[in-house]
Amino acid sequence: MEGLYICKDNKYIDQVRGTSILSLLAKKDNLEIMLYEFKAERPNSITPGDTPDLMEFYYILEGSIVIGNKDNNVNMSKGDYFYVQNIKETVPFRTVSDTKMLYITSQPVYNLLYAYTDELRNLLDKSEAKDIYTHKHSNRVQDYSVKIASKLSLSGEINYALALASLFHDIGKCFIPDEILNKPSRLSDFEFDYIKKHSTYSSELLSGKFIEDISKIVEQHHERLDGSGYPNGLNGDEIRIEAKIIAVADSYDAMTSDRAYRNALTPEAAMNELKSFIGKLYDKNVVLAFEQILHDEGILKN
Ligand SMILES: [Fe+2]
Ligand SMILES: [Fe+2]
Repeated sequence: MEGLYICKDNKYIDQVRGTSILSLLAKKDNLEIMLYEFKAERPNSITPGDTPDLMEFYYILEGSIVIGNKDNNVNMSKGDYFYVQNIKETVPFRTVSDTKMLYITSQPVYNLLYAYTDELRNLLDKSEAKDIYTHKHSNRVQDYSVKIASKLSLSGEINYALALASLFHDIGKCFIPDEILNKPSRLSDFEFDYIKKHSTYSSELLSGKFIEDISKIVEQHHERLDGSGYPNGLNGDEIRIEAKIIAVADSYDAMTSDRAYRNALTPEAAMNELKSFIGKLYDKNVVLAFEQILHDEGILKN
């Protein structure tokens, strides 16, 4: 029939996979109809649009979310919906379980929303492909970081920045030569200095793409409490909580992954190592929250 568009078997016009999956289902003039898919326990937020005319409508198809800030929030689940128009501040929300939402906007947002993440996603794939030992490292670090933040009951805004910062923390490794990244033997001082530049490179790549917080957090992910980290040798409170969280998640993942020069540590051994450096390298509350999470998930046995 003329004018009838039937789309079966998950058909979509375009799709971008980032920290969530956004599929463009249909569009006409300014109207866009999308499917938004999120994993459980993911922080997210709706930011004020550039035009007052923009209306964004969300209908929950599956799963459940908590919308609003700490003092004022509402649980929503399948069949519930909300929409925003002319909001003045960011509206945070967090998924409780795996969630699918129908997302309709009155102005085109699809390309704007994902032009940046798409480019970064490509760089991330490139940097992970270069380093044969860090496959899926960024996703695991993101997963651990988000869980730690939620255990520490940090605010929605912190969670949002952390989710992106933890995913892209090592993206600057795409500029480090393969021979250095994958060198099986001990690195020379020169080579190690080169590797150390990756946190600055990551931060520069992210700067201007998201809120500035994200690039600041990324720049600090190798800073350590006692000032022994890099690139700026920051101490204790000079390091942001998000960077302290990524430091713990990142170190744990590095220790529990095989490397050219050593086998992976067990979760217990890696956790003991983290705990032995509490107060020197790692934040106490962050390490203890992470230990609790690994216990609850049955990864740590005792
Ligand atoms: Fe790093
Ligand atoms: Fe890392």
